[in-house]
Amino acid sequence: MSHHIVAFENVFFSYPDGTEALRGVSFRITHGESVGVVGANGSGKSTLLMHTNGYLLPRSGTITVGDHELTKKSRQEIRKKVGLIFQYPDDQLFMPTVFEDVAFGPLNLGLSPERVHECVEEALTTVGSLDLRDKPPHHLSGGQKSAVAIASVLAMQPDILVMDEPASHLDPRSRRALISLLRHFHHTKIIASHDLDLVLDVCERCIIIKGGKVAADGRAEEILSDRKLLEENNLELPLSLQRRGQSPGGDMDEITKLHHLLEHWAEHNTEHARTYQEWSKKAESLGRPELSALLKMIADETTSMDAHFRKALELCR
Ligand SMILES: Nc1ncnc2c1ncn2[C@@H]1O[C@H](COP(=O)(O)OP(=O)(O)OP(=O)(O)O)[C@@H](O)[C@H]1O
Ligand SMILES: [Mg+2]
Repeated sequence: MSHHIVAFENVFFSYPDGTEALRGVSFRITHGESVGVVGANGSGKSTLLMHTNGYLLPRSGTITVGDHELTKKSRQEIRKKVGLIFQYPDDQLFMPTVFEDVAFGPLNLGLSPERVHECVEEALTTVGSLDLRDKPPHHLSGGQKSAVAIASVLAMQPDILVMDEPASHLDPRSRRALISLLRHFHHTKIIASHDLDLVLDVCERCIIIKGGKVAADGRAEEILSDRKLLEENNLELPLSLQRRGQSPGGDMDEITKLHHLLEHWAEHNTEHARTYQEWSKKAESLGRPELSALLKMIADETTSMDAHFRKALELCR
């Protein structure tokens, strides 16, 4: 499927004051990938994300989203696909009430008033903010604003979700809820964050941006356990990796690292098995018994992998 692809090719961008914020960025994100974008303050993460839906346009280079090359002309179309949540929720919320803010996108998509109502209630319920629906957004706390900003994008049911520091104002429980929501969002996700634990939890791939360029691009587990690479980019190991197995002053030993990775993989395995199970039930209720049976088999085989993970964890001790 090409319609969820985001590809940057040698993208350069300068702000009007001459700051060159992107200096030849290239990557290709394919359907269903979840990608963390990390890097020091001022490295260019937000600038990069604001290019994904044409909020900013490159000075040179090309950006392709789905089947469209991003241009001034195509960006209206692209915005229907790409839901961008800004780093600062105040940049996103501008209507008199929360309800109107969340309804703004779906109304612009031309949905019927009834459908808009449903989308708004569903999105606000998902982020636990339905009770805020009649409040003016500027009266909300920082975390409440973040949740509503997320709802305003979810309500448009985007194919590609792009979030800039989504957890920075959230309390631990809301942060956990966001992680769970992101794990269940099966389309393409691009998430810029200094919360490397969140990135490790949600993203299989990670891109490090340094001085407006891609400094590293690979599997999140590999990149986020590379202390030297992280330190070169003003970053630190995710807390979950710091907690265990560091020799005094030295790097985490490889087996300890593997132990952590296995725990992480095992957790995802269980999660995936549950998802296959859910889809098996859905397929059955949609009158697709063969598909349902196959998904059930995939769920069972995935669950049976748990024993291998347990064994491997034991062998790491
Ligand atoms: N509106 C602007 N005008 C001029 N320069 C800007 C503007 N916005 C950002 N910059 C500059 O562009 C560079 C990249 O900024 P950007 O906001 O993309 O970084 P970031 O990686 O998102 O940082 P943070 O981690 O602090 O959110 C920085 O040097 C910044 O000062
Ligand atoms: Mg930023």
